[in-house]
Amino acid sequence: MAQGKYTVTMIEGDGIGVEISAAVKDIYAAAKVPIIWEAVDVTPILKDGKTAIPDAAINSVKRNLVALKGPLATPIGKGHVSLNLTLRRTFNLFANLRPCRSVVGYKTPYDNVDTVLIRENTEGEYSGIEHVVVEGVVQSIKLITRPACERVIRYAFQHARATGKPKVLVVHKATIMKMSDGLFLSTAKKIAKEYPDIELGAELLDNTCLKIVTDPEPYKPVVMVMPNLYGDILSDMCSGLIGGLGLTPSGNMGDEVSIFEAVHGSAPDIAGKGLANPTALLLSSVMMLRHMKLNDYADKIENAVLKTIASGPENITRDLKGTAGTKHFTEQIIRRL
Ligand SMILES: NC(=O)c1ccc[n+]([C@@H]2O[C@H](COP(=O)([O-])OP(=O)(O)OC[C@H]3O[C@@H](n4cnc5c(N)ncnc54)[C@H](O)[C@@H]3O)[C@@H](O)[C@H]2O)c1
Repeated sequence: MAQGKYTVTMIEGDGIGVEISAAVKDIYAAAKVPIIWEAVDVTPILKDGKTAIPDAAINSVKRNLVALKGPLATPIGKGHVSLNLTLRRTFNLFANLRPCRSVVGYKTPYDNVDTVLIRENTEGEYSGIEHVVVEGVVQSIKLITRPACERVIRYAFQHARATGKPKVLVVHKATIMKMSDGLFLSTAKKIAKEYPDIELGAELLDNTCLKIVTDPEPYKPVVMVMPNLYGDILSDMCSGLIGGLGLTPSGNMGDEVSIFEAVHGSAPDIAGKGLANPTALLLSSVMMLRHMKLNDYADKIENAVLKTIASGPENITRDLKGTAGTKHFTEQIIRRL
């Protein structure tokens, strides 16, 4: 903290990242949020043959403990480890918190979505352990370890307690993946004993998908927790229930450091055209403000975004069936602060 202000690391990211980060910075300046942004470059370097993040960026996040991150493009099939994965591993961000709440003023088939999903963020199907057995036969290893299960499941119980939700629901496929998902599930049963005030439930992933799209209401009092890939897919599905990726925030949580980011990617198809919707990054920053206990600023910004979205198609971006560009949308939010 310097001069009464908090310093937060800003990773602008690729593609639309630059445009949506600029919108966030303009809105924060207008709302007089006591934050100084420390911009860092995370263009990867090779260290001992492995993808690594430049030291200056690592040191900034370690110093500030909180970062806001735009999307980073991952080159496909070039042997690169995803920079997103590298960030999560570097800072041990073991839980990915993804809330989805219906946006008043943006009509979707359901008005009552209020889900919270916690995705294991460091291993599982995303361990990156793949190899060729023989030409034409490849193998990908889903790694599940008890310590990683314990910390993400414990985080889910703590989150349920902190937010007044009475139940943690493990979403799994232990019927098929008896050992890996079986370990996740048995660990949850063990951890649940530490939280007698919170109920533990378990549900098969396919069943959860079916039930949530049929009626999201029963998932309101629940914190869902699951292995990495299931969380990736199910959270996008929940995002679809409220209007898509342009509206969905997330937080990558560790014991010390937290990095908040939109769920969407760098949207190369609209990058540089002034069309991007900054809402997801902005709502991620609102999660960040609440994490930093700056709740008044969080409420102020969240209310202004929601009022702007409800104000009509001329003020919202095309992904929300509006006609506005990023700049006009941002100006309208600032007017409503
Ligand atoms: N956390 C991350 O940094 C992250 C997450 C997902 C994808 N990616 C990367 O992003 C790149 C592009 O991925 P993709 O095309 O599969 O997914 P994407 O999320 O970038 O885009 C999917 C679709 O949604 C639209 N869209 C996404 N965000 C939007 C926004 N804020 N406003 C308006 N429209 C928006 C895009 O125009 C596109 O049509 C890839 O390199 C991928 O690896 C990064």
